[in-house]
Amino acid sequence: VASPLRFSGGVLELLDQTRLPGAEVWLRCEEPEQLADAIRRLAVRGAPAIGVAAAYGLVLGLRDLRGEEPSARFEAVAELLGSTRPTAVNLRWAIDGGREALARALAEGHDPGEALREWADALARDQRDADRRMAAHALALFSERSRVYTHCNTGGLATAGSGTALGAIEEAWRAGLVGEVWVGETRPLLQGARLTAWELEQSGVPFHVVTDSSAAALMARGQVDLVMVGADRIARNGDVANKIGTYSLAVVAERHRVPLYVVAPLSTLDPDTATGAEIPIEERDPGEVMAGGPALNLAFDVTPHHLVTALVTEVGLLEPPYEESIPRALRAQSPA
Ligand code: MRU
Repeated sequence: VASPLRFSGGVLELLDQTRLPGAEVWLRCEEPEQLADAIRRLAVRGAPAIGVAAAYGLVLGLRDLRGEEPSARFEAVAELLGSTRPTAVNLRWAIDGGREALARALAEGHDPGEALREWADALARDQRDADRRMAAHALALFSERSRVYTHCNTGGLATAGSGTALGAIEEAWRAGLVGEVWVGETRPLLQGARLTAWELEQSGVPFHVVTDSSAAALMARGQVDLVMVGADRIARNGDVANKIGTYSLAVVAERHRVPLYVVAPLSTLDPDTATGAEIPIEERDPGEVMAGGPALNLAFDVTPHHLVTALVTEVGLLEPPYEESIPRALRAQSPA
């Protein structure tokens, strides 16, 4: 599957995900303002992909200092990009990493622009690597001809790698372990029906798109063996913020004793957020739900940790109690 972004010659190009699957249009970003606009419009979307795009947005920003000190310019761009979408923590995580990379470059007398470029390339590489490792760990959750239900889009488009939940599903399919993929269409912007369907078609994985409200019925008929989704932010206690509709999926899955797995890199775990109640939930334009009418457009919801069977990260499966397994995984990653 094509990567949703590429950086070369000082230009960040984004595959405009608002135009898929009808048209493959590449947007050119030469200024961080153009990227900020693209993130807000969901031209680039999915928590890890937003993080990778923001890393290159910082590189774009540091190319032209506009007469400012590198650190001051960095903070202005960080503020701009950081304010685009509130829920996905990978955005803040990428910006924090860029700030550290810049501080190191300045302390060691390296060119800030070049240092940030190298850092952004490494971050993108790490994401691709994390995706591969998550998919490998997730294989153990499938059995012969598993029927898996997924929500939103968590493929390469959402990570700039091979994907989280969808990458794992595709890997399991290649291993001969998948009998059916149910793709929830994902109202109102149809990341499932447009983007996941497009990606699965490209990889040759057979699937069926269903309306979001079909999940309970499919489970009642015994046609779902597991649910696999991604995450935009996971609190320290294991509460998971993900695309609106994930919580209802988790409730019906528990009701039908279907396990629900959340596939997410460690960069989606937020040690600064104690529980899901503290996760900011993005509210988008009501016009996306209903033209002209009164509507409330919650972009995400929080699935309480007790409905999450396990988290699949690049360092392996994290199981309850999450208040122990999550801090342990984060400590192992950065022993400092
Ligand atoms: O609003 P979106 O399309 O950016 O929401 C994306 C999701 O909710 C994904 O499930 C999440 O970012 C994980 S993607 C690997």
